[in-house]
Amino acid sequence: MAAPLLSRPVRVGILTGGGDCPGLNAVIRAAVRKGERVYGDEMIGFLDAWDGVRDRRTTPLSIDSMRGMLPRGGTVLGTRRGSPFDTPDGVDHVKQTISDLGLDGLIVIGGNGSLSIACRLHSEHGLPILGVPKTIDNDIEGTDLTFGFTTAVQIATDAIDRLHTTAESHDRVMLVEVMGRHTGWIATHAGIAGGATAVLIPEIPFDVEELCGRLIRRHDRGRFASIVVVAEGAEPIAGTLEMGEKIYDRFGHVVLGGIATRVAHAIGDRTGFETRVVQLGHVQRGGTPTAFDRVLSTRFGVAAIDAVHDEQWGKMTVLKGEQIELEDLTVAVGQTRTVDRELFDGVAAHFFA
Ligand code: F6P
Repeated sequence: MAAPLLSRPVRVGILTGGGDCPGLNAVIRAAVRKGERVYGDEMIGFLDAWDGVRDRRTTPLSIDSMRGMLPRGGTVLGTRRGSPFDTPDGVDHVKQTISDLGLDGLIVIGGNGSLSIACRLHSEHGLPILGVPKTIDNDIEGTDLTFGFTTAVQIATDAIDRLHTTAESHDRVMLVEVMGRHTGWIATHAGIAGGATAVLIPEIPFDVEELCGRLIRRHDRGRFASIVVVAEGAEPIAGTLEMGEKIYDRFGHVVLGGIATRVAHAIGDRTGFETRVVQLGHVQRGGTPTAFDRVLSTRFGVAAIDAVHDEQWGKMTVLKGEQIELEDLTVAVGQTRTVDRELFDGVAAHFFA
């Protein structure tokens, strides 16, 4: 292996942005551990994402301070949505903070939004920034997986497993709404793992009549209980189901949640079957990461601090097959990694009723 370009100890800032995700602390811990132990680095955490960069709210990060954090969900640094590009002087604040704190670089652990910000700060303003992709949604282009995803899938699968017995006892159709704003990765994997009857994902507008037909045929075969997994961002074929006005939050994101309830009412009205809805919500993002996510997070953290020493600014750590690599941040920007149709049509569809 070639010697790192920056073989001297460096000062690095770290922040976590966007929605939290199991494995964030494991990334920070790994970067800090390797940075401090191998390179003699000094690591500084920014609190509450870009807000902390603006307000200079920082905390020292060390092997000691990160002890015990590997299995802990959430992020010790706190996280927020919002961007330095939201205000006219936001980018200047970032530049000034990096310069005043004598930082050699900044590691940004975030989803599509945070990685886009990181990319712009690097490409338009020349700032030394390195990205680490995270999201339970698994929808970031350039990496085969994001940490947090397998944890969310496991939580959703555990819930579905439990719902089978109560659905069967009451002969009910249970609708399980899972996260997945633009993509149905969690829904598809949990649907396969949990033996669902149907899975509705944002990538494929659904036809509620067709879904009801499937449930009726299943009933006719003597299967009176069904589990339908619905990604929160799933949408009906235009004009087939009343959806109401879309509501947006202050960051311009559509407020999701409730699609499973609409589908449940439609199923009840059309079939007469008894339906119930379970909205898993943020329980999918909380708590301890799976062993897989801990390993992926740790590998990303180690790769991130190595990349800092190689001055690989404008890149992000990614998983390609079994290997951790670096990829340009531009690859993730403006893209959404949608569900593999071979998985959905070629595998999952065979098991859905
Ligand atoms: O992007 C991850 C995610 O968990 C989405 O699946 C979900 O729509 C969104 O975050 C929820 O965000 P918030 O925490 O702001 O409610």
